[in-house]
Amino acid sequence: MVYRGPMSASKLARPALDYKDSFLAALAEFRAESLYDFVDVAETSKDFKGFVDRLNAGARLLHHPAPDWLEPVPETLLWLVKDEDFIGTLHIRHRLNWHLERWGGHMNFAIRPSWRGKGFGKKLLRKALPAAAALGVERALLTVRPGNAAGIHVIEDCGGVFADETDATERFPARRRYWIECVR
Ligand SMILES: CC(C)(COP(=O)(O)OP(=O)(O)OC[C@H]1O[C@@H](n2cnc3c(N)ncnc32)[C@H](O)[C@@H]1OP(=O)(O)O)[C@@H](O)C(=O)NCCC(=O)NCCS
Repeated sequence: MVYRGPMSASKLARPALDYKDSFLAALAEFRAESLYDFVDVAETSKDFKGFVDRLNAGARLLHHPAPDWLEPVPETLLWLVKDEDFIGTLHIRHRLNWHLERWGGHMNFAIRPSWRGKGFGKKLLRKALPAAAALGVERALLTVRPGNAAGIHVIEDCGGVFADETDATERFPARRRYWIECVR
């Protein structure tokens, strides 16, 4: 069971079985907006332990833009949780490859749709900075779609400094690129 202290607060945690029901509900919400639609829901539900073990082993299950032509980089995946609720997901890449330099960045994150607009996006990114620093990322690149006003707001509010905007290519959309100091 998840430890319930006197006051429950959100925290970043490794994926764990405690969050199964909540994660599966969140997955349905994400898929309604075409996020994580490459995750097999039936398989994930049937073998949630295997799913969680693969995430914790750095299996890059949720990050697979083009494994055949990209240099793999180590990635740590954390969930923002509160009690037994899954609130959001955070990917931290320990270093960049050429694709991440232009499009993916060191970190990306998402709050499940039903928990948005309550400050958890900012909470997640604030907690992500020391977590990234502990993994050796002193300065993190974050990228965001130019039309993603909420994402831009969260990144700028957490100290993101705008660098530039990459052009769209045939395969990838334009991105605004920001740097954030993780060591403060
Ligand atoms: C971006 C995202 C993480 C924000 O999560 P959230 O929990 O709603 O964020 P918060 O509640 O902490 O705050 C969002 C801030 O953006 C503002 N905001 C929300 N929607 C907005 C919009 N359409 N236009 C402008 N600002 C907006 C909010 O008012 C809030 O600012 P405030 O606290 O100063 O009022 C969430 O929308 C999401 O998961 N999107 C899909 C994935 C994604 O875009 N990730 C970010 C890029 S990696």
